[in-house]
Amino acid sequence: MYEILLREDLVPNIHLYKLAAPGVARKAQPGQFIIVRVDEKGERIPLTIADWGREEGNITIVFNEVGRTTHKLAALKEGDFIANVVGPLGLPTHIDKFGTVVCVAAGYAIAAMAPIARALKEAGNRVISIIRAPSKETLFGEERLKEFSEEVTVVTGDGSYGREGFLLKPLKELLENEVVDRVIVIGPACVMKLVAGTTRLFGVKTTASLNPIMVDGTGMCGCCRVMVGEETKFACVDGPEFDAHEVNWDWLMARRCTYSGAMPSVTQYQCRYCAQW
Ligand code: FES
Repeated sequence: MYEILLREDLVPNIHLYKLAAPGVARKAQPGQFIIVRVDEKGERIPLTIADWGREEGNITIVFNEVGRTTHKLAALKEGDFIANVVGPLGLPTHIDKFGTVVCVAAGYAIAAMAPIARALKEAGNRVISIIRAPSKETLFGEERLKEFSEEVTVVTGDGSYGREGFLLKPLKELLENEVVDRVIVIGPACVMKLVAGTTRLFGVKTTASLNPIMVDGTGMCGCCRVMVGEETKFACVDGPEFDAHEVNWDWLMARRCTYSGAMPSVTQYQCRYCAQW
């Protein structure tokens, strides 16, 4: 059993939990994830590790409350326990001294970007971040990313804070005016697809952290398979990060839709940019 040591409601529907999980904390790396089962009859869901305290033996997760399991998870409070936490899973983010790296994140994925930006900075990169939320009310993580980024551009959909609209415009401006050596993107699949389409025009290598449906998280069920180039990959063991220019995004989004009819509450989060998940 894994105790919830701290709970913070970052914005409506996005929650941060610090969990006592010393075994995971000891080995966690940027870009890795855990599989959580809230109780012994619960489904298994993947959540990216947003931070860890090796000495203290804890990990931080940030999740979006969108379906039955995340509602159940969000109903817990400090001092409650989660039945199972398996991890760290997946390959860590490839960190190197690339030069100038642009970190692009949207929504709850901003939390997952923070340890990546930190590692990139520690490796000697110049880190620039572009983050987006629908509104000021739903934005979090700006201050944390500022710790590791030379600049942070904030975009809100309604213009209530930072720039208004979508994040492709500031990304394109950056690519037009600066030498960018690498782009890393985390967010909804449709956002990552659009970012990949933009960076391809500029020939900038881009990695994306994929978010297919997962079950076991250890390469055995085949549920998380994605097409990268001409190959089938399992996101849980071969990824979750892949060359964004090689990913078959439409296939990924179609597979992510498989069970959306069984979760009526998710429709409110349907992407208005591509009308798909
Ligand atoms: Fe089962 Fe990846 S989640 S193979």
